[in-house]
Amino acid sequence: MRHQSGTEGDLAILVEGVTKSFGQVHALRGIDLAVPRGTVLGILGPNGAGKTTLVRVLTTLLRPGGGRALVEGHDVVREAAAVRRRIGLAGQSAAIQEELTGRENLQIVGRLYHLGRAKSRQRAAELLDQFDLTDAADRPAKTYSGGMQRRLDLAASLVASPSVLFLDEPTTGLDPRSRLGMWQVIRELVAAGTTLLLTTQYLDEADELANEIVVIDRGRVIAAGTAEQLKDRVGGDVLEFVVPDPARLSAAVAAVAELGHSAVQSDEETGKVSVPVGDRGSQSLVEAVRRLDAAGVNTDQMALRRPSLDDVFLSLTGHIAEDEQPAQRSGVGRGRGTRSKRGTR
Ligand SMILES: Nc1ncnc2c1ncn2[C@@H]1O[C@H](COP(=O)(O)OP(=O)(O)OP(=O)(O)O)[C@@H](O)[C@H]1O
Ligand SMILES: [Mg+2]
Repeated sequence: MRHQSGTEGDLAILVEGVTKSFGQVHALRGIDLAVPRGTVLGILGPNGAGKTTLVRVLTTLLRPGGGRALVEGHDVVREAAAVRRRIGLAGQSAAIQEELTGRENLQIVGRLYHLGRAKSRQRAAELLDQFDLTDAADRPAKTYSGGMQRRLDLAASLVASPSVLFLDEPTTGLDPRSRLGMWQVIRELVAAGTTLLLTTQYLDEADELANEIVVIDRGRVIAAGTAEQLKDRVGGDVLEFVVPDPARLSAAVAAVAELGHSAVQSDEETGKVSVPVGDRGSQSLVEAVRRLDAAGVNTDQMALRRPSLDDVFLSLTGHIAEDEQPAQRSGVGRGRGTRSKRGTR
């Protein structure tokens, strides 16, 4: 994987060859990660990929089967207490006590961290304010909306002012508005210097929040890089249309070739043309219509498709197959030429 430059001392999190099995289930099969201080690493992966298992290992809740993991330079097994003093965790299932009020929940966490009564009270009030929960502070948490409960849970993970924060799927199950609110809160934390490791099933979330993204699947890292690099592997947005007249297919491809940020693909059987347009989606759509019109090509079903997480995985699975057969490795085409789909098979 791509490690950012720097020595172990600059890293908030270092993971080397970490494995974990539950009986026959190999949840982690050798994970390597490096997270520089003050940055955000997004761990992207589908259900069962091993995200929560990794977070539990790094937060000392689970012992790794093998490998080693350091948080702020401390080994998660041999120096678990030192690690715990420096981290915060907001899990997939909120750890708040529903019968207690938001304020009480935060004060209890403060006492658990031995902040003392006055300091606990003060920290609770600060966090309630920061997370926009002051109005609801003295109601039982069970009366909170899902979004409010997530914010309270996140606030609880911050009581002891951790330098490294772990968020396991912080927005799964939230409505779009609460999700945006959560993103905003997370951005503020990062701006204040907190190192963040965040897991998510959403490409857009990783894109929005993470400096670096690691994609894991079935306990392995299958890709790593910035959001831009991952999108390049998928090809970004794809403009698709169908040319009903087979005789006009090559004219259509020629008309839109310059709009592709990598090779334009065409399928002679279906007449479908796919143009990877990167992040210039709607602009390219307008331009394609204009150029095809100028070339006198009729088209059907013109549509812009955004790459979904499915596309990323589809693309990445393809790359894994290539890795197994190095002779066929082709990398990501960046040329502006055209090639027929058949030719690439
Ligand atoms: N305590 C456990 N006992 C047995 N198997 C487990 C245990 N915890 C996790 N697993 C298995 O390990 C694999 C990875 O699970 P994990 O919870 O880490 O995935 P995840 O990426 O967090 O998934 P999700 O997106 O659904 O939360 C899964 O196959 C899961 O069934
Ligand atoms: Mg999970």
